Amino acid sequence: MKFFVDTADTKEIADLAETGLLDGVTTNPSLIHKAGRDFVEVVKEICGIVPGPVSAEVVALDHKEMMREAEILRKVADNVCIKVPLTIDGLKTCKALSSEGTMVNVTLCFSANQALLAAKAGASFISPFVGRHDDIGFDGMALIADIRLIYDNYDFGTEILVASVRHPIHILEAAKIGADVMTAPPSVIKMLFNHPLTDKGIQGFLADWAKSGQTIG
Ligand code: E4P
Repeated sequence: MKFFVDTADTKEIADLAETGLLDGVTTNPSLIHKAGRDFVEVVKEICGIVPGPVSAEVVALDHKEMMREAEILRKVADNVCIKVPLTIDGLKTCKALSSEGTMVNVTLCFSANQALLAAKAGASFISPFVGRHDDIGFDGMALIADIRLIYDNYDFGTEILVASVRHPIHILEAAKIGADVMTAPPSVIKMLFNHPLTDKGIQGFLADWAKSGQTIG
């Protein structure tokens, strides 16, 4: 399972990249606003930190204008992945860009039929939003399972990128279902490392080691 981080905060991205466990980055217009920096400039910096796919989202709603924005964004770096919304114009744009060999992440997916359309449009990634789905009383993970089943039925190459991840259980469930990628905020990724018994175990081992009076090397 690939791990992407969902942020435009370059310091957080650089910190996580140092672990060697980060495979890519996703941004969206809200995260760019939060970062408070020039969009193209920050995407360029992120692409230099992480060699994997870096999603940069178009904001236009019509196909022609989406293509114009994508043209600017895809020139920023080879690892830019153009993010388009799951609309008719978004999928037209996805089809055109993917036919030209550009990576496309189709975002704001809330149904398995939408995911089927994105795969037919040649998307590199489909981003079903599990947290926002849960928020309105639906089971976000059931959506991931449905998409997995459909994509496997037809051998679609589109990768399932579980998005709107709110807590470690989302990641655990996504991994059990066999999602290809998950993207989560830095705080949620950091939670994965922690377990109170790990901390307790280290304390116990170190206390006994001190009593042994030994050193290594
Ligand atoms: C995915 O690419 C989106 O940027 C993101 O996961 C949205 O998450 P949210 O619902 O927490 O805003």
